Amino acid sequence: MRVLVVGSGGREHALAWSLSRGAGLAELHAAPGNPGIAALAHCHPVRADDQPALVSLARELRIDLVVVGPEAPLVAGLADELRHRGIAVFGPSATAARIEGSKSFAKEVMDAAGVPTAQTLPVARPPCVLKLDGLAAGKGVWVCRSEEELQSALQVANAFDQPFHVEELLEGPELSLFAVAAGEVAVPFPPARDYKRIGDGDTGANTGGMGSFSPLPDVPDGDAQEILETVHLPVLRELARRGTPFQGLLYAGLMRTEDGLRVIEFNCRFGDPETQSLLPRLESDLLPLLAGDLSQPPDVADRAAVTVVLSGAAYPERGDQGTPIDGVEDAEGSGALVFHAGTALHDGRLVTNGGRILDVVGVGDTAEAARSAAYEAAARIDFAGMHLRTDIAADV
Ligand code: AMP
Ligand code: GLY
Repeated sequence: MRVLVVGSGGREHALAWSLSRGAGLAELHAAPGNPGIAALAHCHPVRADDQPALVSLARELRIDLVVVGPEAPLVAGLADELRHRGIAVFGPSATAARIEGSKSFAKEVMDAAGVPTAQTLPVARPPCVLKLDGLAAGKGVWVCRSEEELQSALQVANAFDQPFHVEELLEGPELSLFAVAAGEVAVPFPPARDYKRIGDGDTGANTGGMGSFSPLPDVPDGDAQEILETVHLPVLRELARRGTPFQGLLYAGLMRTEDGLRVIEFNCRFGDPETQSLLPRLESDLLPLLAGDLSQPPDVADRAAVTVVLSGAAYPERGDQGTPIDGVEDAEGSGALVFHAGTALHDGRLVTNGGRILDVVGVGDTAEAARSAAYEAAARIDFAGMHLRTDIAADV
């Protein structure tokens, strides 16, 4: 098969890496890709939000399957556009992608499907959580424990030109469960955990994710099927009933509260950086799964994977461009995987180009071994202003 991966981050590098290990792959392309992906695939300078150019590229290259990484092109209808031209794609239609694109739509679907989630509140009063309704790249959620926090959140939220949603504040450890879905059928990946805050001990601003690991000590791989049945499948049936079946990756962000599992959010694509910790555990081929063969669930090894994200100095406030990066080959030489998340080549030199720059993944028989491998490799990488959390998978 000829496959085109759309996107340019660490998740897309991990997808390209996993696809390139499979048997059924004839050619791998990426748009726009990044310097890490370029070692595995032909990269084309087409942006993920340029629908007409992506459709032309897929036709020109006679692509058999387009795999869309990020949410924005899906919410904007890229999968519809490709399918309309007869090109197969892993990723939901714009109407089904609203499960991520609109918090109020997701709530309405969950209520109709009887899926446990945080209760919607009629008025904003602490403790509560404020969420922008639309896509906000992880920056549209404010957890308000006090009146002071609520007032400052309201001020920021009101400055956005979109409605917001208020819900009950839940407490408990979080987990991510990904399912590959085709209409009402789905198979789960094992649970993974990510670290949303910028600082150690879950302090500071929310980010896209500063690290991840799998398997989880508190939610064993074997629980995935049951979670799928209570969370993903009812939502998939409800979307199908509405005439907007979901095809692609349905990601449930969950919280394990004292009253049981509650959905925090749904996403319509692979999570970043959980994907970087899940795909190195995969024994079976990724390609048939993405191409729609759900006869077998993903075959996942017992081994552990830990991902440590290296970000720029000012992330998540702003990205970093053009700072030289050293030590990637050395880190890879230590046995770790290094996925490029925000890099570029400048006169043949690897430089920073984004907020999250590199994802270093350690794999081992135990979480502890995987964690050591990730941190030992990360210590070999250096760029001015490099930031990482030192507590990824520390409590495992
Ligand atoms: P979301 O973008 O909806 O995943 O929210 C980002 C983060 O905000 C989540 O990973 C949680 O840590 C936190 N969060 C969102 N909703 C709630 C909630 N109802 N209760 C507590 N924390 C929440
Ligand atoms: N890891 C969080 C996300 O992908 O949204």
